[in-house]
Amino acid sequence: MYRTHTCGELRMQQVGSEVKLAGWVQTVRKFGSITFVDLRDRYGITQLFFNESLNTRLDQTPLGREYVIQVTGKVIERSNKNPKLPTGDIEIEVADFAIMNTAAVPPFTIEEETDGGDELRMKYRYLDLRRPTLRRNMELRYKVNRAVRNYLDGQGFLDIETPFLIKSTPEGARDFVVPSRMNEGQFYALPQSPQTFKQLLMVSGYDRYFQVVKCFRDEDLRADRQPEFTQIDCEMSFVEQEDILQMFEGLFKHVFEDVKGVKISEAFPRMTWDDAMWNYGNDKPDIRFEMKIQNAKADGKVYAEVLNTIDFKVFNEAESILAITVPGASEYTRKQLDELTEWIKRPQIGMSGLVYVKCNADGTRKSSIDKFLNEEQLKAFGSFCAANDGDLILVLAGKETRTRKAMSELRLEMGQRLGFRNPDEYKPLWVIDFPLFEYDEEENTWAARHHPFTSPKPEQLSLLGNPDKYGEIKANAYDIVLNGTEIGGGSIRIFQRELQEQMFAALGLDKEEANEKFGFLLGAFEYGAPPHGGIAFGFDRLCALLGGQESIRDFIAFPKNNAGRDVMLDAPSALDDKQLTELKLKLDN
Ligand code: AMO
Repeated sequence: MYRTHTCGELRMQQVGSEVKLAGWVQTVRKFGSITFVDLRDRYGITQLFFNESLNTRLDQTPLGREYVIQVTGKVIERSNKNPKLPTGDIEIEVADFAIMNTAAVPPFTIEEETDGGDELRMKYRYLDLRRPTLRRNMELRYKVNRAVRNYLDGQGFLDIETPFLIKSTPEGARDFVVPSRMNEGQFYALPQSPQTFKQLLMVSGYDRYFQVVKCFRDEDLRADRQPEFTQIDCEMSFVEQEDILQMFEGLFKHVFEDVKGVKISEAFPRMTWDDAMWNYGNDKPDIRFEMKIQNAKADGKVYAEVLNTIDFKVFNEAESILAITVPGASEYTRKQLDELTEWIKRPQIGMSGLVYVKCNADGTRKSSIDKFLNEEQLKAFGSFCAANDGDLILVLAGKETRTRKAMSELRLEMGQRLGFRNPDEYKPLWVIDFPLFEYDEEENTWAARHHPFTSPKPEQLSLLGNPDKYGEIKANAYDIVLNGTEIGGGSIRIFQRELQEQMFAALGLDKEEANEKFGFLLGAFEYGAPPHGGIAFGFDRLCALLGGQESIRDFIAFPKNNAGRDVMLDAPSALDDKQLTELKLKLDN
């Protein structure tokens, strides 16, 4: 037997018992003729006490950091208790020890906050994973997974696996492809999601499907994106949008309560896509704080009437003039405002200037455009923006799309600076009524906003034949958003062949192409496809948010870096000539 207890287990009740422990040496502290060692495993840390007689042996075979050792000894009460450790009341008076394995000096410290940089931690991920922070993240991930399964199992969902070597699925990213040795010159695509399979399972009559499943997307990476990530993928038959929202709101509530002990009894707010864009400038609003966008001029209309009375070229020529009222920030200094101006001029934001109006506590107004607006006009603009004395109004003017996006970023930035984005507060909401299409400026075509299997609102079906109206068509599509992150998205699907063909045609796929790519689905729709719909959640994102972080990387055991590389494995890597020949592949260099 290697051990009688784990390193997180022993308490005062065990004082006096003989125990055997095994684990990793975290620290060695020598005090004259005695030595203390912190022994660590997944469950915790226990202090070991080596008395004088064992110290001679320790001198001959010193213990290094991360050595794997086994000790036997007696549990004793500590004279110097450590209230920060669950095992802090006791220590082990070591009677005997054995080194089971030595360790090279680790390249960074295995502690809560390590001194290792990102690349180094990725290269030695197995050491990084020893840190309590990462271990807690992995535990959280498991708990979320378990809670999800319990809930869906209770609702009659079947977990059914779907293949990874498939044909392209259109989720808007590039495919990762795999060459086929047995089918020369042909390639599989890895699934961007199991979308078409889950729909086929509905045609097969499985009624309620789910899967916690890997998805693969070759897209630009960000803090909340990985090339391979995990979805909680779900589909249901004989449902309308309302059924789906209810079912999965229930899932969220269950997970929050089970994993975080947070009970949310009220219904999640619902916001239309139009409202989200209008008030927050993006389709995943962080509603932990207000600071809504004030649309002074937008949509070709002037909403802040005072703008009609002023002559300021930048405003007169702008397509949109948007403002936010930052509560209690009128005392922002010149330096702070200059710094904010630089912030919005960064290429990622791309605005050329920032206008501010300080609503001073004494009732006076001071702005960066005093030359063009008198005190009265500033007051009128202030009341349009619902500003009070003590607030700061920030204004951006320019082309609609860019200005709205920039204002959305500025709102989030100000929310962050003012401490309104508390990671321990959870504010989920549904965003509904997404547009069916979006215009792809690069390709000059209409593309599916969600994916081509999403059904238009039934009352707008007749618009499908008229490209001029595509921008107006809304879909039975919904996203769930948590604290400004899109956690999941889904839709009610098209389930009739004819409508699906019409949709493909609207997306510029002719009949032949549609058949070549999706003939299997169109065919299946001829054999009694039930009405169905579903949703998929970003499992990594959900875990990161429940762990109070935005980056998903430390919630995945073995993630890729920002260049899509696994630096530990050093993948991707070149194929040797033998493999290339076998696959009949020739490289172009
Ligand atoms: P969608 O493309 O919206 O929908 O994906 C669902 C959710 O998956 C997460 N996600 C990601 N997480 C990490 N890294 C990525 N690269 C990444 N891409 C997406 C997001 C997102 O909300 N088949 C449809 C679902 C459906 O219609 O049922 C789909 O995949 O949290």
